[in-house]
Amino acid sequence: MDYLTGRKLGADTIRSFALGFAPKNPSDGLYRFLKSKGISDDLLRRSGLMNVDERRGTMYDKFWNRVIFPIMDTSDRIIGFGGRVMGDGKPKYLNSPETKIFDKSRNLYALNIARKTREDYLILCEGYMDVISMHQAGFTNAVASLGTSLTPGHCALLARYTKNVILSYDSDNAGINAAIRAIPMLRKAGITPRILKLEPYKDPDEFIKALGHDAMQERLRNAQNAMMFEIAVVKRDYDLGDPDGKTQFFERVAGMIAALETEMERQNYIDAVSREYMVEKRMLQELVNRNLVLGVTGLSSQQSSSAGHRSVSASDDGMDDYDPQSGYGPDDPFAYYGIGPDTEFYQDESTGSMYQAPPTAARNNRLGNVKQQGEMISRQLLLNYIAQYPSTYPTVKQYVSAEDYGETDSLTGRVAQLIYDQMEKNGKVDEASILSRFPDAADQTRIAGMFHTLDPASSRTEREKAIRETLLKVFSAASGSAGNDLQTVIRRKNQEAQLRTLRITLD
Ligand code: UTP
Ligand code: MN
Repeated sequence: MDYLTGRKLGADTIRSFALGFAPKNPSDGLYRFLKSKGISDDLLRRSGLMNVDERRGTMYDKFWNRVIFPIMDTSDRIIGFGGRVMGDGKPKYLNSPETKIFDKSRNLYALNIARKTREDYLILCEGYMDVISMHQAGFTNAVASLGTSLTPGHCALLARYTKNVILSYDSDNAGINAAIRAIPMLRKAGITPRILKLEPYKDPDEFIKALGHDAMQERLRNAQNAMMFEIAVVKRDYDLGDPDGKTQFFERVAGMIAALETEMERQNYIDAVSREYMVEKRMLQELVNRNLVLGVTGLSSQQSSSAGHRSVSASDDGMDDYDPQSGYGPDDPFAYYGIGPDTEFYQDESTGSMYQAPPTAARNNRLGNVKQQGEMISRQLLLNYIAQYPSTYPTVKQYVSAEDYGETDSLTGRVAQLIYDQMEKNGKVDEASILSRFPDAADQTRIAGMFHTLDPASSRTEREKAIRETLLKVFSAASGSAGNDLQTVIRRKNQEAQLRTLRITLD
């Protein structure tokens, strides 16, 4: 009681969470009590409440001299226990191992109460005490995982009650890493996560003790958008005072934005990031577009599904997989984006812009080399120009045919064929009808990227020049496979000379 009241818990709170105590002496009190009720050794062994000395064949209580936090399922049935030392002993918390009735990844602490909330969101905390403090302060929609890191099972469970979750993890590095790991998992379950800022306090319990209900309410109202949180975390890896560091930071952010599914989302984040980080919208837009054209989106979404979520299982000694040193998991928090410190950058000769190269292995497999990548960007840009400026089509097709965009089984090749067909038939491009031919979501994203590649040119004359240069690039790249009989070579040389001085006029 001294310990609990020392932590400012009132009688009602202690009662509603059924907090208790496992005494120091005797160390087999629970064992003897349960035996007196006629419970067999075998059942006791499987209850997870006993430590078994296999050699001597004796059993002792697992929990002793600890404050006990019973863990309930959503029907208020007690399925396990957490026990805290009253001081600095180790481990700080001991938890029941998983048993037949205690599945740590299918239950959440205090969900039996939180499920009755009238709020439209749940608050996900790290610890039992955080949850209890939150409830005592009136935030009865707080829950926590059970001495384990968050699992997809937890996310599915949360998603049954709400699509809005505020993550209220500790403000230290371990908590930040845990949040970075939790965010994509929650998203996968269809949940929109937001992040609670607790600074300068360590956890919700300490925050409430220091600032109270109203301040917490205010912080909950201002919980941060998860992607803006991720971006702020990524920022720590870069020196924004250094021009190169700054470029690389925005390259990485552009990769994250490009990985979003819809144009609407991408635009909204381009707006938000340019506002918060004071970068010109047009420049960020360009970086995002380049990422889309390169198909980084496809790569990163593949990686996100293979990012590897650890599953939680019972360990022999009932110790949890909580690792206070490294935070929660061994996963690279940024594996999700497929973008890491090794990500390569290279420069485009014509625009001077930096591109972010996809991871080396993938790039070699899918795209060949840097030169081929540049050629692919040019082809996709040219298609985009045709779609945006149909008046350029008659000129373009004199130099570049639909076949010059790639094999008919490649994405760009297929899209090119469709665009040329539509131009021939209707004189304009219908993006929606092209998209509808590609049922695969990843294909659709890449095609949408082709259509929304805003060219970097800002004025009309710049754009006219850019179209000619793009046309020239695609033409030259296609020359290699155009045949090397003398006639063809001479004809193409002449065409190339024409192209260099060609005037394209947009109206
Ligand atoms: P924290 O170390 O953040 O503790 O662990 P806390 O919640 O702030 O607890 P107090 O305020 O010191 O009492 C957060 C959660 O991680 C699990 C527990 O579920 C705990 O509530 N944990 C932590 C363990 O399972 N074992 C440990 O040794 C430590
Ligand atoms: Mn705490």
